[in-house]
Amino acid sequence: MKVLSIVGARPQFIKCALVSRRLREVGQEILLHTGQHYDERMSAVFFEELGIPEPEYNLGVGSGSHGKQTGEMLVGIEKALLKEQPDVVLVYGDTNSTLAAALAAAKLNIPVAHVEAGLRSFNRAMPEEINRVATDRISDVLCCPSERAVAHLKAEGIVEGVHNTGDVMYDALLANVEIAERKSTALSELALTPCGYYLATVHRPRNTDNPERLTAILSAFEALDAEVIFPVHPRTRKKIAELSVRLTNTKMVEPVSYLDMLMLLKHARKLLTDSGGMQKEAYFLEVPCVTMREETEWIETVEEGWNRLVGADRARIIEAASEGFVPKTRGNAYGDGRAHQKVVEVVFDFVERLR
Ligand code: UD1
Repeated sequence: MKVLSIVGARPQFIKCALVSRRLREVGQEILLHTGQHYDERMSAVFFEELGIPEPEYNLGVGSGSHGKQTGEMLVGIEKALLKEQPDVVLVYGDTNSTLAAALAAAKLNIPVAHVEAGLRSFNRAMPEEINRVATDRISDVLCCPSERAVAHLKAEGIVEGVHNTGDVMYDALLANVEIAERKSTALSELALTPCGYYLATVHRPRNTDNPERLTAILSAFEALDAEVIFPVHPRTRKKIAELSVRLTNTKMVEPVSYLDMLMLLKHARKLLTDSGGMQKEAYFLEVPCVTMREETEWIETVEEGWNRLVGADRARIIEAASEGFVPKTRGNAYGDGRAHQKVVEVVFDFVERLR
């Protein structure tokens, strides 16, 4: 079995690490990095920490408008696919790299396997929602992280090739949380005490590219009863520089590595975020999460009481951050920590059946 896996953005590096390792045990994997994320702290550090093999291809596409970025990826991915002729193309998540990869493969009649299929925010204004819907439509193997994701696909008439594998991000966390405890020096470097700070991340265009929303979020951080540690995405840093705000309770730091992020999250009083993946990581680590969006793809975390959706409303952010909500139990909506093995199994079975 020859698989060509395509990644490009930070969360995809985390998702692919264990899957790549397993794939290379049972078959051949070629790894292609689109270059969507390219800064040392947004890309290289994840490859080092997670032991991800050096990509055979790096397209170096970089930043740009959606059309330019996705279009350049399509051209580069098509070339690699024609050269490699893989049995299947493996894509992750919902970024422009995901869509470009799925589209390039489908047009060449190469089967597509999608890890993290079936997620929906039901908000088509999000670029990720378009990427998800389109990718699922043209995928042959759909690896869902939860039963809810399977149900979303069913509602859209997609039932063939659908598997509930569980969430590969859960596997990654289980494999790395103890390593983080041993290796990460993030807490001491920032002079933090467990539960003595809030952790925050903000990078969704809806929040960063709207000065009113971004100002409301920062103003809420400033009003909290403990310091806010804020690893800042490059997109967000640029947008904050355009606002004239002075932050005293909020400590902006450079984007952190995966292990440092796990440590910072594990010991935070709460997480304040608009990230998709981090809502779940908070849930896995049993840290309450305040999500600064109107909706979430990870609805199970809200239903179980671990996550509150508050939008970019200053008062609601402060209220949810200050309130002591901690549910007694956590379910296991996202699998048993063996999703990466199941993904490889279903992809392998699919390729075998084609032969
Ligand atoms: C992308 C994904 C998003 C994911 C996120 C994880 C899409 C549509 N969005 O958003 O779903 O949650 O990655 O981080 O694919 N930049 C740098 N250096 C980098 C990368 C980005 O400076 O290494 C800056 C550039 O100014 C760029 C901006 O960040 O224009 C946005 O980057 P881009 O990859 O387009 O989208 P993200 O916001 O990172």
